[in-house]
Amino acid sequence: MPSTIFVLNGPNLNALGKREPGIYGGKTLADIEAMCIAHGKSLGLEVVFRQTNHEGVLVDWFHEAAEKAQGIAVNAGAYTHTSVALHDATRAIGIPVVELHLSNVHAREEFRHKSLLAPAAKGVICGFGPDSYILALNALKTLTQQTK
Ligand code: DQA
Repeated sequence: MPSTIFVLNGPNLNALGKREPGIYGGKTLADIEAMCIAHGKSLGLEVVFRQTNHEGVLVDWFHEAAEKAQGIAVNAGAYTHTSVALHDATRAIGIPVVELHLSNVHAREEFRHKSLLAPAAKGVICGFGPDSYILALNALKTLTQQTK
């Protein structure tokens, strides 16, 4: 059976393609979803791809993933820098969480340097544009093989 990976996206990522293309590039979230599904297939992973602008919905999806999936790749957007709830959700579930960002948050404003999610996550990938999603899937493929 292929492993299932939830790829979860937080606030404003629905605007990719139009939103600050100098920082986030020209690809839409639908383009990135197609990339993730195709790459997941090549790795033998079933990808469930979602976006929400609401923090509590992300928390609900973390708990749903714990029941249905073997790992989470999450671009939590601005909630990365503010959300104790996502930190706690990551610690509450027994599956690996990989934090990812399109941009290199460490090369940007200081308020983006701090991640509340990172201390609870398996690892963090940032700065590779849409390839950050591909790298997160590669990491989760390795992690799910290790837990088998
Ligand atoms: C982001 C970086 C965050 O700081 C920002 O709030 C986002 C996008 C990224 O993918 O680079 O919404 O997560």
